[in-house]
Amino acid sequence: MTNPRPKLIELQDVSIGFGSAGQMRVVEGINLLIRAGETVALVGESGSGKSVTSLAIMRLLPRAKIGGRILWHGEGEAVDLLTLPPRQMRAYRGGAIGMIFQEPMTSLNPLFRVGTQIIEATRLHRDVSRREARAIAEDALRLVGIPEPASRLDNMPFEMSGGMRQRVMIAMSLVCRPALLIADEPTTALDVTIQAQILDLLRRLQSELGMSMLFITHDFGVVAEMAERIAVMYAGQIVEQGAADQILSRPANPYTSALLDAIPRLEGRVERLASIEGVVPDPNHWPAGCRFAPRCRHAIPGHCTDRPPPLEPADPGRSIRCVRWPEFVEPVHA
Ligand SMILES: Nc1ncnc2c1ncn2[C@@H]1O[C@H](COP(=O)(O)OP(=O)(O)OP(=O)(O)O)[C@@H](O)[C@H]1O
Ligand SMILES: [Mg+2]
Repeated sequence: MTNPRPKLIELQDVSIGFGSAGQMRVVEGINLLIRAGETVALVGESGSGKSVTSLAIMRLLPRAKIGGRILWHGEGEAVDLLTLPPRQMRAYRGGAIGMIFQEPMTSLNPLFRVGTQIIEATRLHRDVSRREARAIAEDALRLVGIPEPASRLDNMPFEMSGGMRQRVMIAMSLVCRPALLIADEPTTALDVTIQAQILDLLRRLQSELGMSMLFITHDFGVVAEMAERIAVMYAGQIVEQGAADQILSRPANPYTSALLDAIPRLEGRVERLASIEGVVPDPNHWPAGCRFAPRCRHAIPGHCTDRPPPLEPADPGRSIRCVRWPEFVEPVHA
């Protein structure tokens, strides 16, 4: 199988530790490739390490010890973002890499007009006058579907609805025309109708601007509409990775299956959410074997609990972390 699209960013064996010596390893051994123009979804329950992984890409974890490499394949040789001097990193953060943060309500400063905030974000990275930056900001608001963008620039954040503020955040992340947009739970704080509009907007922008996107969510329900590839995270590790249609129709890791079963469905008139029993383990005490074993109904004592399972290649482009995966994966029919 050939994939003509070039690599954009590649996480190689990335680990993230907190504590004085980085001993609390909240993320371990992450390998993740995002190609130019492709959307990859990072999915997993709360606390699985999705946000810290994206913040590591942006180098926004001042107190963490980050291991491994984060290769950026731009023009010429790849650079390791983790080793860049802070000044050079600033060209990527908010420049080549845009980010929509998980807490939208805290990302806009309530004390400044939205126009002022977009203009400042623009001038941080682009050598333009205030007047030019205002024009760019106006275009950005238009791009994200805000009516009367020129006058909206003078709004204070509280004068806008939640959905509108999220559009502003998206506009702000796009003023430097990033090659990669990281969207961390971009719709969680919004109601369902607005959520659908924002997802549509992101999809449209991704294809119009030809960006790559790392789309972070705990909601498998939206993944199918957004991503070509999925990486499922549990307890700081990737437990299954592959093409979205493959994983959604034939999940092979019991954790992925459990997450898929937890998608809300309308049964009769009641919406049921079958949540997975138990909780994500504490990073200070990861289980010795498979980290999901204590909650897994397929776990075999000893077999699953003694040694950590490796992430093994299955079908082309797919890998699974589960010693029993050959029993669960259905053969691909030609
Ligand atoms: N600054 C920090 N210092 C110490 N531990 C942290 C810090 N930030 C995150 N963690 C821990 O890292 C782990 C992963 O957190 P993270 O926020 O990445 O989860 P997540 O997958 O984004 O969850 P959610 O779906 O709730 O956003 C958690 O155990 C969390 O408590
Ligand atoms: Mg998060």
